[in-house]
Amino acid sequence: MTEPARPPQSAMIDMSRTHPPLVPATFDPEYRAALAEALSLSTPSEIVGAHRWMGTEADRTAGASFTARRLGAAPDPGRVVVTNGTQSAFTMLLGGLVGQGSVLAVESLTYPPILVMAERLGFEPRGVAMDGEGILPDALAALCRDRRPKALYLLSTLQNPTTATMSLERRQAVIEVARRYDLQIIEDDIYSLLPERTPPPLAALAPERTWYILGVAKSIAAGMKIAYLVAPSPAEAERQFWPGVRATFWMAAPISAATSTRLIERGGDQRIIDAVRTEMRQRHHIVRPILDGLDVVTADGALHLWVRLPRGSSASGLAALVRRRGVIIGTAAPYALPGEQAPEAVRIGIGHARSHQELEAAMRAVAASHADAWTAD
Ligand SMILES: Cc1ncc(COP(=O)(O)O)c(C=O)c1O
Repeated sequence: MTEPARPPQSAMIDMSRTHPPLVPATFDPEYRAALAEALSLSTPSEIVGAHRWMGTEADRTAGASFTARRLGAAPDPGRVVVTNGTQSAFTMLLGGLVGQGSVLAVESLTYPPILVMAERLGFEPRGVAMDGEGILPDALAALCRDRRPKALYLLSTLQNPTTATMSLERRQAVIEVARRYDLQIIEDDIYSLLPERTPPPLAALAPERTWYILGVAKSIAAGMKIAYLVAPSPAEAERQFWPGVRATFWMAAPISAATSTRLIERGGDQRIIDAVRTEMRQRHHIVRPILDGLDVVTADGALHLWVRLPRGSSASGLAALVRRRGVIIGTAAPYALPGEQAPEAVRIGIGHARSHQELEAAMRAVAASHADAWTAD
């Protein structure tokens, strides 16, 4: 096996992230127009002179139309809260709905910031076994009987990291368990806007107990730092978020909220999402033949690939080999719950590469390293 020289850090291609691809030909004019219109409809002092609290009426109405894409109909804007991204919404919800000493049910491999928040806020995350469609309703019911979790956090579409999407029947079965054990659901639907088709979110089927979060980070732009949250009712939105008068860290920066509102009002959000979808179709097309023969799990619109490695192999070993070829990929380890063994699998983001050439080069590095790893065994 020949040992490639390690490239300098600046030349590394970072495939460990799940950012959507940049689509400047569409994004830049749409964003510029939304920003200019936001600034001409109100004065700068009106926009940034005060906190946005749960969002202005226009923000919450825009959030209602943005989430309507997935919910089927626009929710009452009174249920909508504009937040500084999904993670900011978590800090309020996990503190308020779960809290110190309580249990939060999560997928057996879960989004790592949830584990960080568990440590900081003092709640206990408990994993629910998954199959190719996400969490198993029977395993959730068993956890409910044993540990009485206060809430369940999940991604029903394109789960991170496995890319699993729940069928409609699986969603209904999970809701049935949640109703039986009076479980609140925190549904993070952040990857759901890119697939052409996906079943309705749990929030559309069980609005009475679902806290629905639709961030823009994975379909429009991560740096906007905007996520729209839909609470079960206006009163519950207020109960969890009006303490905002005493804490402001989760609130959207007003200029970003105003720009996002205008972007949605003028339909620019959909035009950007369409451009990202088109670009992702091309990227999947590039990647597929290069990784032919590997155990790749992904789906239409997914921003990443989940590659399961053969028995006895090491994900960190493969990541190290790939790194020597100048490419950074992630492993399953950060997604595993404390004390649990992570599967030998790697996560490869395909949206972040700056060009098709870069994407192709990175994928060839992964395929070559994978081949080297098995030759070395
Ligand atoms: C499952 C999941 N939720 C939320 C986020 C980030 O959301 P935000 O930037 O809105 O905080 C990510 C980004 O990696 C994610 O993978």
